[in-house]
Amino acid sequence: MAATFDEVQDLYRNYVMETYAPELVLSRGKGTKVWDANGKVYLDFTSGIAVLNVGHTHPHVTAAVQEQAAKMFHVSNLYYHELQGRLAEKISAIRGGAKCFFANSGAEANEGQIKLARLWGHEQGKHEIIAMKNGFHGRTLAAAAATGQDKVKKGFEPMPEGFVHADFNDLDSIKALITEKTVGVMLESIQAEGGVIVGDPAFLQGVRALCDEHNILMLCDEVQCGMGRTGSWFGFEHAGVAPDVFSMAKALGSGFPVGAVVASPKVADVFHPGHHASTFGGGPLACAAALATFEVIEQEDLVAKAQEKGALLKEGLEDFVDRFEHVVEARGEGFMLGFALDQDAKPLAKSLQEMGLLVIPTAGNVIRILPPLNVKDDELEEALDMLDDCLEEMHGGSIEA
Ligand SMILES: Cc1ncc(COP(=O)(O)O)c(C=O)c1O
Repeated sequence: MAATFDEVQDLYRNYVMETYAPELVLSRGKGTKVWDANGKVYLDFTSGIAVLNVGHTHPHVTAAVQEQAAKMFHVSNLYYHELQGRLAEKISAIRGGAKCFFANSGAEANEGQIKLARLWGHEQGKHEIIAMKNGFHGRTLAAAAATGQDKVKKGFEPMPEGFVHADFNDLDSIKALITEKTVGVMLESIQAEGGVIVGDPAFLQGVRALCDEHNILMLCDEVQCGMGRTGSWFGFEHAGVAPDVFSMAKALGSGFPVGAVVASPKVADVFHPGHHASTFGGGPLACAAALATFEVIEQEDLVAKAQEKGALLKEGLEDFVDRFEHVVEARGEGFMLGFALDQDAKPLAKSLQEMGLLVIPTAGNVIRILPPLNVKDDELEEALDMLDDCLEEMHGGSIEA
């Protein structure tokens, strides 16, 4: 017999540090659906926070991991193994000749891109990174220092030096911070944790031009926007710009931990043996999962589907803005979507969960919606119906902020 909710909660309360506040025990997932400890089924429109772009337990990814697990779990980076080279080749083919360093998480990939940028600028005396207010880059110390949200840093001071913060979507505020110490500008193409704030294409193009003008690096964090989520392989493609370096993680391995620093050769080639390393980075299981994930996204044409079906879902959210006074704005690209309320989003997210739809309350008043890119049409309709019903209830006064 599987453990009950209370038993699992007790295990956590007794033995796990309380850094999270979960309210469900999930025991199984298939496609867009997950099941809790009582057998109740939910539509997972969180995708494990933008990890499960191909849905839960996709058979092709599961088979690739199982096959590799039977051959070899781990190869240290003292040695070559084919899959790490093949995965880098795949990413490079999509991103015009880039080179990769593999890590295990988004924060670790961002640490890698920050170190790479600093090493690139070292001889010119450049080290400072201009990151964005309201941006999010992870919880390790340098990633937290790059993050433009005080709540992530509070209590952990002193933060590593070398980060200043400009206003997102405001080129002048970046210009005002550029000095001879600046090595790069770091940003998300869509601020995800920050409340699904889309980078204006003209702003991203302006950042690219500024970086060229000052001979500094454009650094993108594609940890959450990458792997087709926004309806293009990477979010910055919507603006037609190419960063010098970017980070990936989350959906890259469909839930198998893997991250990557992806850099144009002019920057990538400053890394030499001894500069940076990671015991598990680019291990064979992670690379097998990531290669299979790319295959699924290509075979099922999921980048285009995220764009088409994301547009339909967004229309549904815009309809809520027209019909419900507490819904103030729908925003996002592809399947990186959200809507803002004029109040705290948590009570609505909780009611949706009770009804059977998992979404993410973000940035106080935003409901973030991240379905798998291969979500079925009837699942999208079901989710919109649940949202509609819950918003009706909220406007009838039975859900209170
Ligand atoms: C844009 C962005 N960067 C970095 C991270 C950190 O990734 P990880 O939790 O894998 O360290 C996240 C996590 O939500 C993210 O959304």
